[in-house]
Amino acid sequence: MSFRLKDGMLLGAASSATQIEGGDLGHNWNDWYRRGRIKDGSDPGRANDHYCRWKEDADLMAVMGLKICRLGIEWSRLEPQEGVFDREAVRHYRRELKYLKKQGIQPLLTIHHFTNPGWFEAKGGFSRMENSRYYLRLVRLCVRSFGDLVNEYITINEPNVYAFNSWLVGEWPPGGRSVKKTADVMSVMACCHIRAYETIHRMREKMGYTDTRVSFANHIRVFEAKNPGSFLQRGIAAASDWLFQRAMTVAMCTGRFLPPLCNRDHISEGEYCDFQALNYYAKSTVSWLRGVPKGAPVNDLGWEVCPEGIAQSAAWLHQILPRPIYITENGTCDNQDRFRCRYLYEHLKALCESGLPVERYYHWCFCDNFEWLEGESARFGLVHVDYETQKRTVKNSGQFYCALIAEGGVDDSLYEEYVAGQTYPKAGEGLYRGTETEM
Ligand code: BGC
Repeated sequence: MSFRLKDGMLLGAASSATQIEGGDLGHNWNDWYRRGRIKDGSDPGRANDHYCRWKEDADLMAVMGLKICRLGIEWSRLEPQEGVFDREAVRHYRRELKYLKKQGIQPLLTIHHFTNPGWFEAKGGFSRMENSRYYLRLVRLCVRSFGDLVNEYITINEPNVYAFNSWLVGEWPPGGRSVKKTADVMSVMACCHIRAYETIHRMREKMGYTDTRVSFANHIRVFEAKNPGSFLQRGIAAASDWLFQRAMTVAMCTGRFLPPLCNRDHISEGEYCDFQALNYYAKSTVSWLRGVPKGAPVNDLGWEVCPEGIAQSAAWLHQILPRPIYITENGTCDNQDRFRCRYLYEHLKALCESGLPVERYYHWCFCDNFEWLEGESARFGLVHVDYETQKRTVKNSGQFYCALIAEGGVDDSLYEEYVAGQTYPKAGEGLYRGTETEM
């Protein structure tokens, strides 16, 4: 039951600006909320009020023994109007980054995580190649402003998820439903990542630094045919893999653009990531009717839990371009904190026993936060947030994570104390979503 963390492996937590900061900044998610598109009606303007409580949150991370932290900047704070930059917002993020470092927590900075300023969205956002210059101007601003404090960057978070949800399925802003536009967005984002990769390296090199590491956070799923004997199911799984993730990953890591992507910026083939950044949550079983087989372990959103999938996905990335592996997100929606310890344990164990060069693990998420379409009603945090009072309370799983970090792994007694008694909900057995526990 026991396992040890890999030598030198660092553990921490990940977040994104919009999901924790709060604020009515005129961005696309503020707008989506106003249009009544958030399922539970909660307002991203509230979130965790982290923009004001950043110090409290950093202190809590330090107390819990976190050594690394992935955080994002909010574009619409730094550039509220096109070409107008807010120096106070720059100073704010500098204060936060400095404080994290003072607390012994090393930051990994995400430049784009799903949210666009209203003015950028109005120009068509990432669906138009000519708009890449606005994103690249933001990248330069970040390196100029934070380059002395941060050596590790995520250029773009989950471009595949963004392209599909915002431009194909239409559930996220701007609600697009076009195959052509989805392919355009994927191509433009891949080009943006590569140009950002080059820019960050060039600028930091000029500043005299040699320790720059840049990548993009890649959402990878395991697509598996429910019936491996079915030619059609296998075909659908392979096509989903290619269209949802592989074509884009290949383009972004190597500059090789294969259909449905298109090289829109004369990009040369090369190597465009210094670490493989994996966001992993769940498996996708491909069958005729329902995705998740009856009886399979699931979380409160009905996502199929598959701990081996994290190592399979990391290996998948490592094959495309071998690099150190950072798990830039992994976690689960567990509103009552009933199985998060088991989830954490099983995923970390699979990674540590995989033989892959896993250097970092950022749990998603530190505090419960604004979960996009699901709003405040899907809880992924190690720390419970009472949104009315903004009180933070470390959950049982948060305590387990602290102990695991302090001990460098899980021994039998830790397993017995936190993991042994936990089981996952099962698909097909009533409603998954538990109600929130009183803390
Ligand atoms: C995203 C996060 C999100 C998490 C859980 C990832 O796809 O990067 O922003 O909260 O999944 O849904």
